[in-house]
Amino acid sequence: GGKRIRPALLLLGCRLCGHRSDRAILLASVVEFIHTATLLHDDIIDEATVRRGRRSVNSRWGNDITVLLGDFLYTKSMAMALSQDNLRILRLLSDVTLRLIEGEILEIERNGNLRVTEEDHLDTIRRKTADLFAACTRIGAILGDVGEDREKALGSYGLNLGLCFQMVDDLLDFTAEEKTLGKPVANDLREGKVTLPMIFLLRRGGKAAVEKVK
Ligand code: FPP
Ligand code: MG
Repeated sequence: GGKRIRPALLLLGCRLCGHRSDRAILLASVVEFIHTATLLHDDIIDEATVRRGRRSVNSRWGNDITVLLGDFLYTKSMAMALSQDNLRILRLLSDVTLRLIEGEILEIERNGNLRVTEEDHLDTIRRKTADLFAACTRIGAILGDVGEDREKALGSYGLNLGLCFQMVDDLLDFTAEEKTLGKPVANDLREGKVTLPMIFLLRRGGKAAVEKVK
């Protein structure tokens, strides 16, 4: 299940750079596995009960199994990436994982803080979502061997797309229906996550809005 947008981006990036290979397909699986591993851990942190329209792994098999399954998928995906003997790609994936974890820690730290600024929030979603998108498009450029400028341009496209993706995800939390979204709505609000729609509401609504949200 899932949209599989990250592997699609990696493969489209490759195609744009004139590259097609089994190696690209393997790395596309790697980024999807990394993403799935982070979702397993994220659902434990968020105490989520539904994912992709089904009961989440943590609610079905408990946190112990879920954390280990996340570790397994992550380690397996890095072993698959290692088999490609490409140090630049390995470094990129390892850097991106560190930023993902930093993003998640920042989000926890900022939880419930109504003073979080737009800038703070963009910093969090860049780490937790957009940097992996950027890595996917960048890998396309690396495999296509198109040079530094194009790699940078593709990285910037992925980064901006990732920021937009997370903004839409945060907005859907307020506007979508659980059936179409495949996960409970208004969850961010319940968990105290201050996302962009809330930041704008607090900014425009002044003290009255702050009191209401509290
Ligand atoms: C979903 O966000 C979560 C992420 C995009 C990143 C989660 C990252 C970690 C838990 C870091 C460590 C993990 C590993 C295995 C290295 P969300 O809660 O806004 O989205 P959701 O509404 O789909 O849950
Ligand atoms: Mg979550």
